[in-house]
Amino acid sequence: MKLRDVQRLELPPSADMHVHLRQGQLMELVVPEIRKGGVDTVYVMPNLQPPITTVAQALEYRSQLQSLEPGVQYLMSLYLHPSVTPEVIAEAAAAGIAGVKLYPQGVTTNSESGVAGDFLEAYSSVFAAMEKHDLVLNLHGEVPGSPPTDGTSLEEAFLPQLKKLHEMFPRLRVVLEHCSTAAALDAVRSCGPSVAGSITAHHLYLTGDVSEVDPLAFCKPIPKSPSDRDALLKAASSGDSKFFFGSDSAPHPLASKTGRPVPAGVYTQSAATQLVLLALEEAIDRGVLSEQDVTQELLEEFLSRAARRFYKLSDPGPARIVLERQGETIPASVRTADGSLEVGLSRAGAVVFSLRWVS
Ligand code: DOR
Ligand code: ZN
Repeated sequence: MKLRDVQRLELPPSADMHVHLRQGQLMELVVPEIRKGGVDTVYVMPNLQPPITTVAQALEYRSQLQSLEPGVQYLMSLYLHPSVTPEVIAEAAAAGIAGVKLYPQGVTTNSESGVAGDFLEAYSSVFAAMEKHDLVLNLHGEVPGSPPTDGTSLEEAFLPQLKKLHEMFPRLRVVLEHCSTAAALDAVRSCGPSVAGSITAHHLYLTGDVSEVDPLAFCKPIPKSPSDRDALLKAASSGDSKFFFGSDSAPHPLASKTGRPVPAGVYTQSAATQLVLLALEEAIDRGVLSEQDVTQELLEEFLSRAARRFYKLSDPGPARIVLERQGETIPASVRTADGSLEVGLSRAGAVVFSLRWVS
């Protein structure tokens, strides 16, 4: 397949295993956008205000999401916090909650209630309960604070904790979310099959120099060097089922993005699948990937199948997404009907595939 020359692609619906759907008006704005990005299954982040720390909150949140868009499967998570005990884990597993997200305190948006200090020690009974009940642990894998002075990143500084966690709980399914460095990919590869890594669309096209200065491109973890980005592109198109798509689409009102401090988060949900395809095309143009690297099978694996296998979900149903070249461009923003709330999209104006659903 020569992606640049392909006029029409038909794929199973994408599974987006890391989304921020927010609450209130912002939720009402972004949830109807999920299917426009070709996605039928999402793993929903719990960093609301207040964070989702109880099963009842997670179920109530899911029913709100379902009523806004019933055509999406919502996998719910809890926010790791001292109130999430082994008993809560058992209750969560019985209620069909898929996992628990760990945020080191102060590392990103709404992480004030996250874990502080040695979480391996503090939460070992919770991790043991998660391993027993087969819940997934999702890691925001960065240490909080300023980057080390030796030029390594906050993500690299976190990797020894991933390895130790995996040694202590080898059967606990762990996802290192939004991998942003070649070192993170290597760390995931060096662990057993219970450890996977999610890769966003925006880390496949952004680098730190851009992300630091463009508010709509600013996120955590900060995108890194061109060689880190290229390592992510190679992992995404490698067919290695340890790596799957999780957009980390993180909407913030445009009004806050133009203020100070700039909140971290890149919004891509409305064109999630299209932006991954665009990043792969650009990688082919730069010679980072060859035409032969990007096959139908690899796209299906990265965008849809690998994640469903890891999360023990059923195969996608008969619905398909069809992507065609019609000169469509990414809009500047999505906004409410009355214009009172607007969220800027990443890569406004870029030409992408048009996407429609067929059943
Ligand atoms: O850029 C980010 N935005 N990274 C995160 O980890 C959180 C997210 C958000 O919630 O806005
Ligand atoms: Zn996130």
